[in-house]
Amino acid sequence: MLEEFEKFLQTHLFETKSFHPHFNEAYKKMFEVGGKRFRPLLLLNVVEALNPLLLKNAMYAALAIEMIHTYSLIHDDLPSMDNAPLRRGSPTLHVSYDEVTAILVADALNTDAFRILSMMPIDAKTRIELCKILSSNAGSDGMVLGQAIDCYFEKKPLNEKQLTFLHLHKTGKLIACALQMGALIGGVTEDTQKEFYDFGLKLGLLFQIHDDIIDATKSSSEVGKPTKHDKDKNSFVNLFGLSGAIKIRDEKIVELEKLSAFFGEKLNIFFCKILGNNFK
Ligand code: IPE
Ligand code: IPE
Ligand code: MG
Ligand code: MG
Ligand code: MG
Repeated sequence: MLEEFEKFLQTHLFETKSFHPHFNEAYKKMFEVGGKRFRPLLLLNVVEALNPLLLKNAMYAALAIEMIHTYSLIHDDLPSMDNAPLRRGSPTLHVSYDEVTAILVADALNTDAFRILSMMPIDAKTRIELCKILSSNAGSDGMVLGQAIDCYFEKKPLNEKQLTFLHLHKTGKLIACALQMGALIGGVTEDTQKEFYDFGLKLGLLFQIHDDIIDATKSSSEVGKPTKHDKDKNSFVNLFGLSGAIKIRDEKIVELEKLSAFFGEKLNIFFCKILGNNFK
């Protein structure tokens, strides 16, 4: 499935044709250098479990969410945000090119995500609903709000409730959105979509807690981005200590393994595999 998605990405990512010396190259670079494709794979696996005939069409939605995610990383790495020189094992765009290019490539990806979603071969009502879900989880009530809080509260410690709000917004909502979009395409009821979404919020919170742990425990060459970089950040490691954060993460893995049984055998196996592989 990953291979099919990569093929789709290569053939559907927009080409920008102009006399700009490197805009087109910069636009594609962050996709070419790596990335786990965690969010597209969530979406596609849900569709495959619910209605495999729609898997091909769902690639449009999977690419849209990866474009939003990639734009969020490019902005996240800017000097005015996390000031990170490395992403996906390569120099960040503001280092390879310049800040203007990084800002504008990310802006373009944010806009073009909805362009690709508008091209998805599916009934118009579902297409509009997909736009609504993606925009509301990425924008001012989603990832962007989380990033704003993350940056504003550097060196200003938040309490557990506030930190959970921050992580649910900056990371949880886009992951929950991937599952809900897959569920909507797969044709389940709104109630079941909400079950997927709520499970996704929990998975997304776990994802960010694990990312906080990665920062404290892995080397930059292992993960392809700077580590030991979160000193001034609100993170689970900074609030609970490393062993406290690890304990919370491991409890959440067990809880999610149990909860995933609700989605049927195929998805239960898939979610358990993700939980086993991605968070150690
Ligand atoms: C990194 O996301 C940013 C967070 C939300 C923690 P990923 O860990 O999914 O990054 P890529 O896409 O694999 O590079
Ligand atoms: C970023 O969180 C989440 C985004 C919305 C991009 P981090 O700042 O912890 O992500 P990394 O560690 O740089 O990948
Ligand atoms: Mg950040
Ligand atoms: Mg960062
Ligand atoms: Mg991080």
